Amino acid sequence: MKSDVEMLRALYQAGADGISTNSLAAKAGADQTSIRVRIQEWRHIGFQIEASPHFGYRLLEAPHRLLGEDIAARIGPVRVVGRQIQVFQETSSTNEVALRLAVDGVAEGAVVFAEHQSRGRGRLGRAWFDFTGKSVLMSLLLRPTLRPPEAARLTIIGAAATAWAVEKLTNIKPSIKWPNDVIVGEKKLAGILTEMRAETDQIHHLVLGIGLNVNQTKTDFPEELRQRCSSLRILTGQVWNRAEVAAALLKELDRDYQRMKAGRFAKIAAEWQSRCATLGRQVAVQFGKSTIHGRAEAIDGDGALLLRTGSGLVKRILGGDVLLRTDKNGSNG
Ligand code: BTN
Repeated sequence: MKSDVEMLRALYQAGADGISTNSLAAKAGADQTSIRVRIQEWRHIGFQIEASPHFGYRLLEAPHRLLGEDIAARIGPVRVVGRQIQVFQETSSTNEVALRLAVDGVAEGAVVFAEHQSRGRGRLGRAWFDFTGKSVLMSLLLRPTLRPPEAARLTIIGAAATAWAVEKLTNIKPSIKWPNDVIVGEKKLAGILTEMRAETDQIHHLVLGIGLNVNQTKTDFPEELRQRCSSLRILTGQVWNRAEVAAALLKELDRDYQRMKAGRFAKIAAEWQSRCATLGRQVAVQFGKSTIHGRAEAIDGDGALLLRTGSGLVKRILGGDVLLRTDKNGSNG
């Protein structure tokens, strides 16, 4: 409901100063009685809202679950990303839901979140594991005017935006492992899965799926992932409000998508490169059963990895699994 979002946004903006019922009603375009009723309802779902005749209403704490209105209120006005937000308690895969929305003709910018996925998908046909209520699992529907070989740009935007959002919120400086892993040290913090429908010359729609580990403790991960995965909580010792994390991520994605549309992808690629842990290293790139070894030299304007092989030839790699040192198989790993 639009007035709910306006009302929450007004509470966030007022901060510790608080806001009167009158002003809240004016901002939300509702009458004072509806405001009082709504405040009670928000309290029931976990918002701590203080009321006083001196300062009016003050929002002290938001619930630790994902709510569409809460995320929308936090992001404020956006150009594209987050124009429509849906949150599922459980779904098969947010990418699957967003791909269905695309076929139904929903406008670009729609975002689907889930507290848990029963069939979360990773790259290369793998599964993506999640522990209910501890991650940010999201998929963004886009309709970019790009050719299919340029789709890697969106994966780059996804990884760069995730790294920036994490850094702005937590001060941690994540690196990126080409093409899609956001890592800290050697451990994976987030993964990105881009899926699309396209013809030879034009992408019809593209879904950018992001899985970011937020509040998992080490033991929340299955044994085989423990050594390879991390979370914001493991890295900072702090529990994070996931709506805040989600909002930071949507803001970065909106900004970068605008930059790409305005012809400034090169700037994003440069930021991405400055975080890239792959470049300058000897790597092995696996595609199915074949593997190419070489030195990762650069990414080109489309986001492809340029690999100098032992024979001195430079190969342009569009996909695959990069191994930096020892083998790192597995969905989240
Ligand atoms: C990978 O590193 O293999 C990519 C993982 C992508 C996982 C996210 S979680 C939200 C979205 N929905 C999915 O089913 N997958 C992506």
